Amino acid sequence: MTSPTTQVYPVIWNGDSVLLIDQTRLPVEYTFVEISCCKDMARAIKTMIVRGAPAIGVAAAYGMYLGAREIQTTEREKFLSQLEEVAQSLKATRPTAVNLFWAIGRMLKTAYESLETVDNVKAILLETAQKINLEDLQTCQEIGDRGLEVLPNSPEQLRIMTHCNAGALATAGYGTALGVVRSAWREGRLARVYAGETRPRLQGAKLTAWECVQEGIPVTVITDSMAAHCMQQSLIDAVVVGADRIATNGDTANKIGTYSLALVAKAHNIPFFVAAPLSTIDFELATGSQIPIEERDPAEIYQVGKSILTPERNVEFYNPAFDVTPAELITAIITEDGVYAPSQLRDHLKAKQIVY
Ligand code: MRU
Repeated sequence: MTSPTTQVYPVIWNGDSVLLIDQTRLPVEYTFVEISCCKDMARAIKTMIVRGAPAIGVAAAYGMYLGAREIQTTEREKFLSQLEEVAQSLKATRPTAVNLFWAIGRMLKTAYESLETVDNVKAILLETAQKINLEDLQTCQEIGDRGLEVLPNSPEQLRIMTHCNAGALATAGYGTALGVVRSAWREGRLARVYAGETRPRLQGAKLTAWECVQEGIPVTVITDSMAAHCMQQSLIDAVVVGADRIATNGDTANKIGTYSLALVAKAHNIPFFVAAPLSTIDFELATGSQIPIEERDPAEIYQVGKSILTPERNVEFYNPAFDVTPAELITAIITEDGVYAPSQLRDHLKAKQIVY
């Protein structure tokens, strides 16, 4: 494995362009891709150079700025109409993680509300993207610490299972589910992380394992089908996962395999937590049944590296990238604003008049 020399930040503004850690090359190579235009940012999101709901949101916000920078006109109306086209091109990249749409919406709103000259609006858009980046970092640190309030109170150090990658790489730099893990590790409450490998893209095996190694956190990688066995063997004390979109009733879309993990956790009476920022809540959705589920290239299933596992002829493949875990399987949702039973989420959002 290659190592970074500093803290892991997957999206970095370097003064003129954006540097993205190329997550398709980890853990073999720790390299950056330089992104200078909106089209390249859209491609980087689509091809998963940058991935993970909050990180996609941050990348899209910078993509909006890069797109704004490319617009030639100084007329406000023309500028806004071309910025809408930039927004559409970024929105078309991936359908499930709502942070993408949230960040683009925030950037558009900023542009519409500003009465400055077009040049000044461009500068304000850059500031807004940087703010979204910094806010996510702080938010994840809060989520991590709030997670400590609900992790099982045990004299023994905990064994926490997670799925996919919900770490620094998937956010601005601390992680949601792995943020909770990091905070537990800092407090001496963690014995080990169990990372499901996360077929087919292997974010658990490739990214979560790599991040844990960077942090010195003991990690055991298992294949996804081993989770029930590990729970039956009393190897897991709690499950903490991230989220790509949460409906207001608490139904949660996350990486494919999360739902089955929640079912087996319930069967073994193991608490199952979702850790996510408020920007992952879709305030327009009443339930998870309306969450769009991305379907990806079947080659992700039948091909591993250069090896073809199943010759394509006469075989069909189905490759949904996410599933929806029903709210009743979730013990609590850990946000920067507090920890809520899914059944409390809607009332809480209403009471606090949280509209994101
Ligand atoms: O397809 P990916 O790698 O973008 O999916 C990522 C996940 O499902 C993560 O678990 C989720 O975005 C939470 S990120 C903090």
